Amino acid sequence: MRVLVTGSTGQLGSALLNQLKGSDYKVKITSRRKPERIGHFEWVYSDLLSGEGLEEAVKDVDVIIHAATSPIKNSKDIEVTGFENLLSKLKYIKHFIYPSIVGIEEIPLKYYKLKYKAEELLKNSSIPYTIVRATQFHDFVENLFLSKPLFKRYVIPGSIKCQSVSVDEFAKHLIDLINKGPQGRIDDFGGPVIMTLREMAELKIKINNETNKIFSISLPGKLYKSFCDGKNTNSFQKAGGITFEEHLGNNRV
Ligand SMILES: NC(=O)c1ccc[n+]([C@@H]2O[C@H](COP(=O)([O-])OP(=O)(O)OC[C@H]3O[C@@H](n4cnc5c(N)ncnc54)[C@H](OP(=O)(O)O)[C@@H]3O)[C@@H](O)[C@H]2O)c1
Repeated sequence: MRVLVTGSTGQLGSALLNQLKGSDYKVKITSRRKPERIGHFEWVYSDLLSGEGLEEAVKDVDVIIHAATSPIKNSKDIEVTGFENLLSKLKYIKHFIYPSIVGIEEIPLKYYKLKYKAEELLKNSSIPYTIVRATQFHDFVENLFLSKPLFKRYVIPGSIKCQSVSVDEFAKHLIDLINKGPQGRIDDFGGPVIMTLREMAELKIKINNETNKIFSISLPGKLYKSFCDGKNTNSFQKAGGITFEEHLGNNRV
């Protein structure tokens, strides 16, 4: 089985690469930058924005795990137009695995709307697919909100809810899907615990013995409310086993 991983330099792409190293799959990887330590994988340059290298990237592959994304820069051109262009090149693909995000149709964020549109494009194509939505990765939440205290304070929207999940566990789940074949949209892959961002910050401070304090802010608008209401979580799908607390313990500073 020949597998292509797009977005091979990203958070999810890197986790996929680490785990595919020991597998029997023939693996091709693609991104614009070349990842360090690619081992025996074949790396191909490709750009979803310009379309350059896409033909070469998808040539002779059976399965694609599409981990390339661009949430902020040129997001529409990459998540939708570039994605559609990629799909148009897949004549003989056996299985296209699309990682998506829990709650995208209920949260008024431009990037999420684009992800939803991409899901629809895939569903309406003739390509055999699996779509699996995950909650936010532990590292993503930590890097976004809990990495840069301001004057010894984490200034955060403390009431928003998170069900963060290990990117390694999600990567393993995606790799397990290769053998299962196309299944359409499947159950969400959520982390084991739903917490507020304030609770996550408290854990970080405790585990790292930090002297930082928490300054929790409220924000106006539907976007903030949707995260406070936990639209980005799924309490029925706690598939991941590694908690945010364990994640912090493993990466202790
Ligand atoms: N982060 C989360 O918490 C989370 C949660 C649930 C689901 N997901 C989903 O998981 C997937 C991967 O997310 P991630 O957090 O791993 O993303 P990421 O760390 O931002 O990585 C994005 C990847 O896309 C590549 N890329 C960016 N622009 C590109 C372009 N124009 N052409 C080709 N490749 C391009 C980047 O490589 P180069 O810059 O080298 O090209 C990089 O390898 C996404 O579908 C995301 O929606 C993420």
